[in-house]
Amino acid sequence: MFGIGLTIVGLARFQFAMTTVFHFFFVPFSIGMGFVVAVMETMYCVKKDKVYRDMAKFWGKIFLLSFAVGIVTGLIQEFQFGMNWSEYSRFMGDVFGAPLAIEALLAFFIESVFIGIWMFTWDRFTPGWHAFMIWMTSIGTMLSAIWILAANSFMQHPTGFTIAMMGGRTRIKLTNFGDVVANPQLWRVFPHLIIAAIMTAGVVIAGMSAWGLLRKKDGENHFFKVSLKFGLWVGLVGSILTIFAGDFQTQQMIKDQPMKFAATEGIYQNTKDPAPWTVIETIDAKGHKTSGEVELPKVLSLLTYHKTTGSVKGMNTINKELNDQYGNKKFGTQMGSELDFYPPAKTLFWSFRIMTLVAFIVLVFDFLGLLFSRKNKDTIENKKWLLYCLGIGIWVPFIGNSAGWFVTEFGRYPWIVYGLFTISQAVSPSSTIGSLLFSNILYFLLFTFLGGVMVWYSRQTLHQGPYFEDKDSKQNVDPFAKEAFGK
Ligand code: HEM
Repeated sequence: MFGIGLTIVGLARFQFAMTTVFHFFFVPFSIGMGFVVAVMETMYCVKKDKVYRDMAKFWGKIFLLSFAVGIVTGLIQEFQFGMNWSEYSRFMGDVFGAPLAIEALLAFFIESVFIGIWMFTWDRFTPGWHAFMIWMTSIGTMLSAIWILAANSFMQHPTGFTIAMMGGRTRIKLTNFGDVVANPQLWRVFPHLIIAAIMTAGVVIAGMSAWGLLRKKDGENHFFKVSLKFGLWVGLVGSILTIFAGDFQTQQMIKDQPMKFAATEGIYQNTKDPAPWTVIETIDAKGHKTSGEVELPKVLSLLTYHKTTGSVKGMNTINKELNDQYGNKKFGTQMGSELDFYPPAKTLFWSFRIMTLVAFIVLVFDFLGLLFSRKNKDTIENKKWLLYCLGIGIWVPFIGNSAGWFVTEFGRYPWIVYGLFTISQAVSPSSTIGSLLFSNILYFLLFTFLGGVMVWYSRQTLHQGPYFEDKDSKQNVDPFAKEAFGK
């Protein structure tokens, strides 16, 4: 389905997909959690209501764990880059290195320093100063995202470079760092990703609070009700804004990568005018055909041009155009004599639908949750079915985030750097099937373990509840004091 086989390129791509998807479970979650915990602590400073302080402390524990696992999985991600994609690094190093170095030196430095101060100083600073620490951490996580996305946006839409011969190889030479940062792709991806991340945190907080309410433990009801409402608001507003930010990004995709767009809509032939939107269909990717379409008239024109007229180009036409543009001369040897710019259409078509569906699922359930918990008509605790749906729905935004990256990354096929370098050119010449199989299995086991720890710890934290006082309170102790070592 994904066009990945038991070849060196296939296994390297599988490893990239596995490490990225797993790493990306934690990245948006920790970005979103950092932000919402900062909002909770600010609400405590403004409203002086202790429940917001308790919330910042409790949800802050989950944030800390997601942050830690995010770092570990990020390291594995970098490691597999070095192992499997050395030709890519040689080609892209000039551009890829700068944003990643700034990310590590500046953004990661800010977040790590402030998160450390924040977790150990609950009673040592005034509430305002303590809230300042978590805001700095949150800003740090978002700055990190900007630099990583700057590198990824270059791969989607290269800017500020020239092609040069260096050390006997063709390479990218950075000519204007400002253009890399001002890349329009970056400023379309960033809002979509950050809002989706905040929505993710809202859904998790609402879901875990729903489990907390179902458990009915003495003294926790108020805490989980306030948390539930908070999470539902974040999820609802987040889902609406994600839809707008997604549309904003779609416009850039149509302009820069029309093939990706045609694949997400599953159209091989140019559409009629006005263009209908296909809700579902069967795709024959080899035969470049579709069948069994269920369509909504005019909607694709509306989504593409924001008006009810206009036809949309299909993949067959775009493939011819790309052949004319890039031709056999440059890439024929890597891509075979038949140039094939068709991305994996089934994956893109369904990933796009899953991602957008997630926004609407969150919107509907969070709206219902707020409806049943409004003042004077607060009956949510009796709506067990809804609490169960919210609790089980914790996973939904994670699926949406992964589907989003599937669209972004699979849709760039056959390029690793759009229009300049193909995936098969990028793979390490020294990689072997054996080494790739070994590392794939190893990473899979490691990820299963890390994922298990994350789920176990989250359940454990929920089980203990917000008012659990234990050796954990050591976390508020100066890490260099005797008490921190249990003496
Ligand atoms: C109607 C709703 C949505 C629309 C129209 C939309 C649109 C898009 C588009 C067009 C892309 C790919 C852009 C590219 O490759 O250039 C994308 C990527 C992505 N989407 Fe969505 N999306 C929607 C909802 C969501 C939701 C609900 C989530 C999260 C739960 C989400 C998370 C992501 C992520 C993580 C990416 C990959 C990173 C990026 O390129 O921003 N999206 N989205």
